[in-house]
Amino acid sequence: MCGIIGIASNKPVSINIINSLKKLEYRGYDSAGIATLKNDLINEKKCSGRVEELEKILLKSPSEGNIGIGHVRWATHGVPNVINAHPHSTENVSVVHNGIIENSDDLKKELETKGLKFKSQTDTEVITLLITEELKKFEPLESVFKTLKKLKGSFALGIIFKDFPEIIIGARRGSPLAVGYSKDENYLGSDSYALKSMTNKISYLDDGELCVLTKNSVSFYDDNENKINKKTHIISDDENISDKGDYKNFMSKEIFEQPITAKKCVNEYIDSLKNDINIYNFPIEPKEIKKLILVGCGTAYHSCLVAKYWFEELTSIDIEIDIASEFRYRNIKFNTENLYVFVSQSGETADTAAALDICKKNNVKTCSIVNVIESTIARNSDWVLPIHAGPEIGVASTKAFLGQLIVLYILCLKFSSMRGEIDKKLYNQNINNLIKLPEAIKETLNLENNIQLISKEFIEARGSMFLGRGSSFPIALEGALKLKELSYLHAEGYPAGEMKHGPLALIEEGLPVIIIAPKDKYFEKTLSNTQEVIARGGKIFFITDNKKDSLSDNIRFGLRVPHLDCFLSSILLTVPLQLLAYHVALLKNCDIDKPRNLAKSVTVE
Ligand code: F6R
Repeated sequence: MCGIIGIASNKPVSINIINSLKKLEYRGYDSAGIATLKNDLINEKKCSGRVEELEKILLKSPSEGNIGIGHVRWATHGVPNVINAHPHSTENVSVVHNGIIENSDDLKKELETKGLKFKSQTDTEVITLLITEELKKFEPLESVFKTLKKLKGSFALGIIFKDFPEIIIGARRGSPLAVGYSKDENYLGSDSYALKSMTNKISYLDDGELCVLTKNSVSFYDDNENKINKKTHIISDDENISDKGDYKNFMSKEIFEQPITAKKCVNEYIDSLKNDINIYNFPIEPKEIKKLILVGCGTAYHSCLVAKYWFEELTSIDIEIDIASEFRYRNIKFNTENLYVFVSQSGETADTAAALDICKKNNVKTCSIVNVIESTIARNSDWVLPIHAGPEIGVASTKAFLGQLIVLYILCLKFSSMRGEIDKKLYNQNINNLIKLPEAIKETLNLENNIQLISKEFIEARGSMFLGRGSSFPIALEGALKLKELSYLHAEGYPAGEMKHGPLALIEEGLPVIIIAPKDKYFEKTLSNTQEVIARGGKIFFITDNKKDSLSDNIRFGLRVPHLDCFLSSILLTVPLQLLAYHVALLKNCDIDKPRNLAKSVTVE
C-alpha cells in the first residue's frame, strides 16, 4: 500500500506535504517521511508511526525547500522502523515508493557485488541505488527509464534529484498515481483526495507512464519514452469529509451517517415519482446476460456474497462469487455473454484491479461498484455504478458496505424487472421499502445503548462466533470481520447449519455466540441451530427483525431491528454488528480508525 506525495512550487512545500500525508494515512501508518531540496542538499526526515510524529520533528527542525516528496508506509519488506521508512535517499537521489519490487533480492545482490551498501531492509532502496548509478552517465529522465526497465513488480514512484533541483519525476506501474495542477505549483499523489485541498485539476497516469513535474510545467511519457498528452479531469468538490465533527472518531461518524448516505444512494437510483430505477447504458442487455460474476476483497467480497442470495431469489441469472486474489490466478473460462462485476470501496485494491484487468484482456464486459469514482477500477471498467457514500476514512468499512449492498440490490431489482422475472406489485413494494430504508437504519442506530452493554461480555471471552443462514451467513462473516479487525479478538463467522460438522466443538460454557436471525425462510432452522448452541453452554446474543416475542429464556440478550422485507433485513442486521465491534474496540482502547497492521487501501498483492 503506502501513500506518496510530491510538490514542486515557488514557495516552501513541507507544510502542504505533511497535510497531504495526513490524508494519505488511510493507505498506511507504520511510518512517515519527507525529503526536500534546499541549497543543493537533500534533507530527509523520517519517523516510525504516524504523520503526527513527523510533524513534531518538523516543528523542532523545519524542512525548507520549494520542492519535496513525502511518504506514509504500510510495511511489506522490513519492519516498520525509522531506517525502513521512506524516502530512501543517497546524496544525489531521494525516492518514495508505493508497491512491491519482486526482483529486489536479485537486484540487491547485483548492486552489492559492485560494492554498494544498503541501509534498509526495503525493496525500495534498490531503486534509489539503481537511479544513483545511472545518473553517473545519464540525465534524470533517462536514468529513471533505464532503472524502470530492470524492475519487476508494481510501483508508483516520486523521485527528486540533488543536481536537478527543479524537477520531480513520477512513474507508475500497477500502483495508482495522480498529477495535480495549480498556479506556480504542481503535484504528484497516490490519489486525488490527497491533492484536493490544493487543486481540483487532475490527470491520472496509466500503467507504464512517467511524468516530469516542475513548478510551471508537467510532461508525460509512455513506456516507449515518447512524449504524450493526458486528459485533465476536474474532480468533484463533494462533502466536507475530513471533519469528524462531534464524533470521537471517523468510524462512529461513518456508522451514524449511514441513514444519510443510504438516502443519498437510494435517491440517486430511485425515481420515486415513477417508482422505477434509474440505471441505463447496460454493457450487456440484461435479458441477454447468461451469468454474473461478482468479485471483491474483504468486506466488499461479503457484499457480493449477500447479493448472490438476492440474485438467485429474484432473477434466473446464474451467479458466481469470487475473492479477487483467487479470481486473478484461476484458469477462468471467460464468456462474452457474462457480466463481470467488481466491488470496491476505494477502487484501488490491487487484487480487484488485477482481476478486472484480466477480464479486459479477455474482452468481456465489466461493471464496477465503487465509492471513489475517480479510482483506477472505475476508470478501467465498462460501466460504473457509484455507491455515493462519500469518503470513508475509518479503515474498517461500514457505510461503504451498506452502499455496496444497496447498489447491488438495486441492480438485482432492475435486472429482474427488465428480464420480466418479478411481478410489478412486488417490484413496487420492494422499491417502496428501499425508500423507507434510511429511516429504518436510523431507528436501528437507537440500539446503541443496549449494544454498549453487550460489548462488555466480549472482552474476557476466548473468542466468539457469528452465525446466520442464507443471506445472514455473509452478514455473520462481516460481523466477525469487524470484531476481529477492530478489537483484535478472535471471531468466526459460520453458516448456522454447518456448526454440527465441526465448529460446534468450539462451543463451551459462556462463549459469546451472535445469532443473526431475520424472519425469513430460514428462521425456524436458525432457531433449531440456536438450541444446539444453547445446549452446549453458548451465551446467545440473538439479533432479529421478527416482531413476535419468540425469544427463549436461554437467550442472554435479544436485539430487534425494524422489519422491512426479507432482502433489506441484511442491511439492517449489519448495523448492530458494526456498533458491537465498535464498542468492544472502544472498551479495549484500540485505535478505532487505524487498527494495527492494516491500511484502508490495499494497493499491494
Ligand atoms: C474491512 C475492510 C476491508 C476492505 C477490503 C477491500 O473492514 O474494509 O476488508 O473491504 O480491503 O477494499 P476495497 O473495498 O477498497 O476494495
